[in-house]
Amino acid sequence: MSNIQVKKVSGEEQFKNVISHAKEYGFIFQSSEIYDGLSAVYDYGQMGAELKKNIRDYWWKSMVQLHENIVGIDAAIFMHPTTWKASGHVDAFNDPLIDNKDSKKRYRADVLIEEYVAKIEVKIQKEVEKAKARFENFDETMFRSTNPRVMENQKKIDEINTRFKTALNDNNLEEVKQIILDLEIVCPISGTRNWTDVRQFNLMFSTQLGSVTDDSNTIYLRPETAQGIFVNFLNVQKTGRMKIPFGIAQTGKAFRNEIVARQFIFRMREFEQMEMQFFVKPGTEMEWYEQWKTKRINWHRSLGFPEGKYRFHDHLKLAHYANAACDIEFEFPFGFKELEGIHSRTDFDLKNHMEFSGKKMQYFDPEDNENYIPYVVETSIGLDRMFLAVMSMALNEEVLEDGSSRVVMNIPAFLAPYKVAVLPLMKKDGLPEKAREILNRLKLDHNCLYEEKDAIGKRYRRMDAIGVPYCITVDHQTLEDNTVTIRDRDTMQQVRVHIDQLPAMVNEKVSMSAQLGKLM
Ligand code: GAP
Repeated sequence: MSNIQVKKVSGEEQFKNVISHAKEYGFIFQSSEIYDGLSAVYDYGQMGAELKKNIRDYWWKSMVQLHENIVGIDAAIFMHPTTWKASGHVDAFNDPLIDNKDSKKRYRADVLIEEYVAKIEVKIQKEVEKAKARFENFDETMFRSTNPRVMENQKKIDEINTRFKTALNDNNLEEVKQIILDLEIVCPISGTRNWTDVRQFNLMFSTQLGSVTDDSNTIYLRPETAQGIFVNFLNVQKTGRMKIPFGIAQTGKAFRNEIVARQFIFRMREFEQMEMQFFVKPGTEMEWYEQWKTKRINWHRSLGFPEGKYRFHDHLKLAHYANAACDIEFEFPFGFKELEGIHSRTDFDLKNHMEFSGKKMQYFDPEDNENYIPYVVETSIGLDRMFLAVMSMALNEEVLEDGSSRVVMNIPAFLAPYKVAVLPLMKKDGLPEKAREILNRLKLDHNCLYEEKDAIGKRYRRMDAIGVPYCITVDHQTLEDNTVTIRDRDTMQQVRVHIDQLPAMVNEKVSMSAQLGKLM
């Protein structure tokens, strides 16, 4: 392993590599590509569907299987339209948009400001890195609070954030535009500051139920899976005899008419969420909020990516339902961005559903002998974003000892789309038959590939490129003594083992259960 060097590439280059690799090896295709695609909609190919399923399973098992007090449901995408009135989405699920009159391009006003702030943050980070390289025993906190350039830039950031937060909280769109003008933010296409006013734009897609097209039949494609959980809160609590605190988990599609839809699968119009609503006694929500922050960051860390890739970010503007909220941000190739949200949603949703439906949404607490509407702590992660995080970390180009290079996907083995490839060294002498015998033994437990075309070296490279953690090669010696070589994707080391050892050996190396054990 020590003789393998990972090639360093810029974030921009890495992002391009991820996009082209995803297409070339059947992970992700543009939706309806033969018709030139549909903006911000993607299809998962044969490799992508498996990887996505494994990430979803890992989340589901860690939430539902490992917690006695969390159960999972699968609610419909279509919901009664009043759901979205009650949830606040009809009135408040908006993004502030702004157009550049010269380029005719549309932007999210908040994103323009956040990107401006992020550029100042990059400047600060560069100063920090420079100083770190110069001084031994470097104290970053001290440096940040004494270096005049850093302090000045930090002051600028704080001022912008305070002004921006006030404007958003007051729903003062004129002030949001004024901030953009004062910061002299230009349109990246036209280079001008010829902006329209900022307007609110509702992100929900609507359609008609049944054959009559009038407003009363308008229904929405759900913009979050959470509401399917809230409206079923009592159904689950009663039929499952759940006692507070307890959680309901769900994975499924959500839809948002995003204004700025770019960055590949980071921001899509149709995407998948993995959400869990945890119902707690009012007054205990902040305690649970902290607990879920810890649990979720530990889940991310369990994947083994570097610590520095994650950070928490407290929300500047709280969503209409929250009394505390933060994001777990991940350093994607294009910078730190939201991967998961953790929100203390109070009793906002249940209370409103109770009001709009006229049905009780209360819980009788047998311990305290009282009725109350529970408070909710939510964890919500985008499956597609998690997929992008895994792919961005896994895809590497390496220079090998002999100077040659290989492209490899170091996907954590328990998440890999295919766990094993069985490769007969030659297409003759009974080797394919022996290989298929081994394949048939392993495929009951694992997704396995069989490949006999091309020279063995070329086949190894292809398996590396799709992230297969183990290649089993069947050669003439196998026919004599039932041994094979098993090659490790990451180290490229090969060992010879008896075929009877294979099931247990592969199991140990790729098992999701062992991985789940780390979370307990
Ligand atoms: N129920 C709460 C909720 O929906 P959110 O912060 O709007 O909160 C939760 O979304 C997660 O869903 C985000 O952290 C992100 O990972 C994912 N997500 C949101 N919008 C997305 C989009 N347009 N494309 C892909 N993922 C998205």
